[in-house]
Amino acid sequence: MNDYSIIIRGVGHYLPKKVLTNDDLSKLVETSDEWVRTRTGISQRHIASENEACSDLALEAAKNALEDAKLTPSDIDLLIVATVTPDMSFPSTAAILQAKLGLNHVMSFDINAACSGFLYAIEVARGLLSNSYYRRALIIGSEKLSSIVNWKDRTTCVLFGDGAGAFILEKVEEPGLGILDGTCGADGSNPSILCLPAGGSLRPASHETVDAQLHYVSMNGKELFKMAVRLMAKSITTLLERNHLKKEDIACLVPHQANLRIIQSLAQLIDVPMERVFCNLDQTGNTSAASIPLAFSQAKASGRFHKGDYVVLVAFGGGLTWGATLIKYT
Ligand code: UT7
Repeated sequence: MNDYSIIIRGVGHYLPKKVLTNDDLSKLVETSDEWVRTRTGISQRHIASENEACSDLALEAAKNALEDAKLTPSDIDLLIVATVTPDMSFPSTAAILQAKLGLNHVMSFDINAACSGFLYAIEVARGLLSNSYYRRALIIGSEKLSSIVNWKDRTTCVLFGDGAGAFILEKVEEPGLGILDGTCGADGSNPSILCLPAGGSLRPASHETVDAQLHYVSMNGKELFKMAVRLMAKSITTLLERNHLKKEDIACLVPHQANLRIIQSLAQLIDVPMERVFCNLDQTGNTSAASIPLAFSQAKASGRFHKGDYVVLVAFGGGLTWGATLIKYT
């Protein structure tokens, strides 16, 4: 065992003020509150204003995490932003945020692993903190999904929302605490299952791509549903086995908030009661890379876990990508 740990020193989140309810959506597309609630568990989502970009949502979550940790920007040695909705292709949202937050000129970069991005960021930060002089990493999941959703497509626009969540990870001289283990994976053999078809080097933006509506989220929901449950269950089992833990040891499971039926199917498959699963998607919808830190921050605020508890984070997303993180909460 290492003689140090990487602990979660502080957390924070931010949700834009504007709320869009299912009833509001039923005025835009042919849907109903009843359909959205029963098929997804979502009642409302938050939507960023026109002049709020991904880095602005991240900035508010980061400030809240710094306050929670009782730290200042100069205490941060590394910045990672997980997102699929960066302010622009480059520079990275992390680089833009470095200046907005007034950090020192620290290593700052984005990670794109779609909805699993935050768990990828934890793994990368954990590795860097373990193997360098860095002491503290600010990692953020931030998304303005409203900017890539087709508001005329009822099969996708009801699912997503905007928001951000942040962790401050810190290396401490005591073993066996905080982020104990993590697993991440990817399978890119069928990228079109969940993607943004145009705007990259494969299909640069053109009149044709705009006319064909290729700058919006495209998704095969049914296929994703099945794979999500299977991959998340496998990731959790891997972590439990590797750490000689039983499902009963999980005090709180914080899953990616995509669909309540996915979460319920997962809980059933791994045999963990829903009372030990944290859900906030009724209020937020699916916020992709922001989903897990946002949910974790709210779960912490509502006292869903305590010092010494095992908390498991689990996600899946476009790529496909997936991951899980085992935490001994401090
Ligand atoms: O972060 C990862 C991102 N994505 C996901 O996790 C998505 C995973 N998949 C899902 O959450 C679900 O598959 C959905 C919520 C997307 C869809 O639920 P479903 O139970 O798989 O519904 P469906 O696609 O089979 O559609 C059932 C019916 C269809 O009508 P017909 O063909 O049976 O007449 C749809 O056209 O519901 C219709 N429908 C809607 N009706 C009212 C689809 N969207 C809507 C809607 N309102 N918003």
